[in-house]
Amino acid sequence: LLIRGTQEISDCFYLARLTTMSGRLSFSNITALAPMVRVGTLPMRLLALDYGADVVYCEELIDIKMAQCQRVVNEVLDTVDFVAPDDRVMFRTCEREKDRVVFQMGTADPDRALTVAKLVEQDVAAIDVNMGCPKEYSTKGGMGAALLSDPDKIEAILRKLVGGVNKPVTCKIRILPSLEDTISLVKRIEKTGVAAIAVHGRFKEERPRHPVHCDYIQAVANAVSIPVIANGGSLDPVKTYANIEEFRKASGASSVMLARAAMWNPSVFRSKGLLPLETVMEEYLKYAIRYDNHAFNTKYCLCQMLRDKVETPQGKLVQAAQTNAEFRCEYFQQVQEEHQVKRDALQTNSLHGRPIMDGDVLTMAVKFERREYPPQITPKMFLLEWSRKEKLEQPTYEMVQRTQDRAFQSTVTVAEKKYRSSLWEKSKKFAEQAAAIVCLRVLGYQRVVSAKRTLVWFVKGRGR
Ligand SMILES: Cc1cc2nc3c(=O)[nH]c(=O)nc-3n(C[C@H](O)[C@H](O)[C@H](O)COP(=O)(O)O)c2cc1C
Repeated sequence: LLIRGTQEISDCFYLARLTTMSGRLSFSNITALAPMVRVGTLPMRLLALDYGADVVYCEELIDIKMAQCQRVVNEVLDTVDFVAPDDRVMFRTCEREKDRVVFQMGTADPDRALTVAKLVEQDVAAIDVNMGCPKEYSTKGGMGAALLSDPDKIEAILRKLVGGVNKPVTCKIRILPSLEDTISLVKRIEKTGVAAIAVHGRFKEERPRHPVHCDYIQAVANAVSIPVIANGGSLDPVKTYANIEEFRKASGASSVMLARAAMWNPSVFRSKGLLPLETVMEEYLKYAIRYDNHAFNTKYCLCQMLRDKVETPQGKLVQAAQTNAEFRCEYFQQVQEEHQVKRDALQTNSLHGRPIMDGDVLTMAVKFERREYPPQITPKMFLLEWSRKEKLEQPTYEMVQRTQDRAFQSTVTVAEKKYRSSLWEKSKKFAEQAAAIVCLRVLGYQRVVSAKRTLVWFVKGRGR
């Protein structure tokens, strides 16, 4: 009990250090996992937190793509997913990182930036705007480092965000060719009300191998009163945990953000020292499997960790893998089974849920999971067949679309009664299938799956 009490007290102190008086995430005296395209997905963020990072940034996500996403609570994985119209999960997050994850977006449009910030606001700790990435995917359309030459746009975006969301707003910049211009830009940025500025101490044209300009970061830290997060020290000086403090001191900044050093070995955040790569990769894989990370992404991150070892037998195995199962088969199967049990339990719960009348429509909270039905036996098809057998008119579907996230909801009419799912779907087809499921459930039909899960059919009044 004493040990538990001590742990709880230390957790409280830790959380208090990370929050301001107003309960918002503080960027003062922190270490952060930098935003990194492809690397900064959920498994890497959770691992960095485990090892001691205070704050974790997600990879840059482009506003146009995010604005098309639907927010979906994934009850099987216990995550919140932002899902694109093509079903790709653009951003996956979970409770564990809710108070520490910063959502970084690529944007050049204040209104769109706000739309996206509002979409993710309740699930993240802060919103960041990327103003430092010189890569083409980021600079096209005036985003990333392209913003550095348009301070009016920077100001418009940040003011809009600061005024429009209830979470801290930050930005990440590179330094400008003259120190004077850099200082005047950051002073302008500070006036917008941002909570912190991350400064990558390199010029736009400089490559990661070039030495970091700590003197510029120091000058910025002296010029503003908000926390400055020093970035760019991965190659030299930061290789170990002790180097983080040295970089902080050398740059005169309040905080430090690491990209490559953490990508190569996220245990760099660990105060007790680096862990062997095998251990880190093992832990990474567990998160990747637990959170159903895309296998290509898992492979990419493991290859970054392996670095010059990608050609070793271990590296070749990683490179050859096509699915998460191939990385760690036993654990994968165990997790799959746990997820299936959860899926079944959720389905049983909703099977026993009672329909609720919404006006003249019978509604239930039902989602259509495509993988649960083979293409030849969908709920819609079964309902059509059933209506024919009962000599009823063909079911008719009426569709509505919600403006904020363009999600769909369908109402099906069968024998003059209306049925609808109270949940919104990302496609018209799914919305109709969900409405058909509600109707079938009210009629007493349930989905039954064969032992090997190869066959699905509908049975009256029987559960699995
Ligand atoms: C693989 C990779 C992806 C990156 N993606 C982003 C990104 O999405 N957003 C961003 O602001 N910077 C991005 N960066 C830049 C880093 O955040 C960081 O500014 C840079 O690597 C310098 O820090 P370091 O010396 O600690 O590596 C990326 C860097 C790497 C290596």
